[in-house]
Amino acid sequence: MPNDADAEAESISVFDAVGGMAFFERLVDHFYDGVETDDVLAPLYPEAPDFSGARHRLTLFLAQYWGGPTTYAEERGHPKLRMRHFPFPVGPLQRDHWMLHMANAVKLSGASPEIEHTLIEYFVRAAEHLRNDTGLPISSADYRR
Ligand code: HEM
Repeated sequence: MPNDADAEAESISVFDAVGGMAFFERLVDHFYDGVETDDVLAPLYPEAPDFSGARHRLTLFLAQYWGGPTTYAEERGHPKLRMRHFPFPVGPLQRDHWMLHMANAVKLSGASPEIEHTLIEYFVRAAEHLRNDTGLPISSADYRR
């Protein structure tokens, strides 16, 4: 039987722990300040040099993912992030540039070390998951006939 403190800690989402939507707005603002001036990433964005839509979508997605309101789903439906990234080449170079800007943004966000760790662990995994440069295994398989 968990004591009250444990039960309370488990019931607080990251969204609440960081203070709600304003945190994700700040995080994404810092992130896109980097992306907008990145020669590898900026050209990938269909609406560049206007990043306001991309900022809006990432903010709502992250807020929803970490336990906040489900506005992203209402506006965009299921995230299907792998599918939504297929139009853009995401290889190790793009992943690393993306991750660098996100790591800077997390540092500037004012999150506690525990939350920082949680966010970075998630972003590293998510960015690798979105790579789409490896092709289908069948295309590079060395079949014996
Ligand atoms: C790994 C390198 C990545 C690259 C190069 C990349 C690039 C892009 C680009 C070009 C777009 C279209 C911009 C737009 O919305 O108009 C986009 C959309 C988006 N990305 Fe990424 N991305 C990356 C990783 C990630 C990761 C790790 C996440 C989440 C943790 C993420 C979340 C999103 C979301 C939520 C959208 C908007 C989807 C929608 O249309 O609703 N991306 N990304």
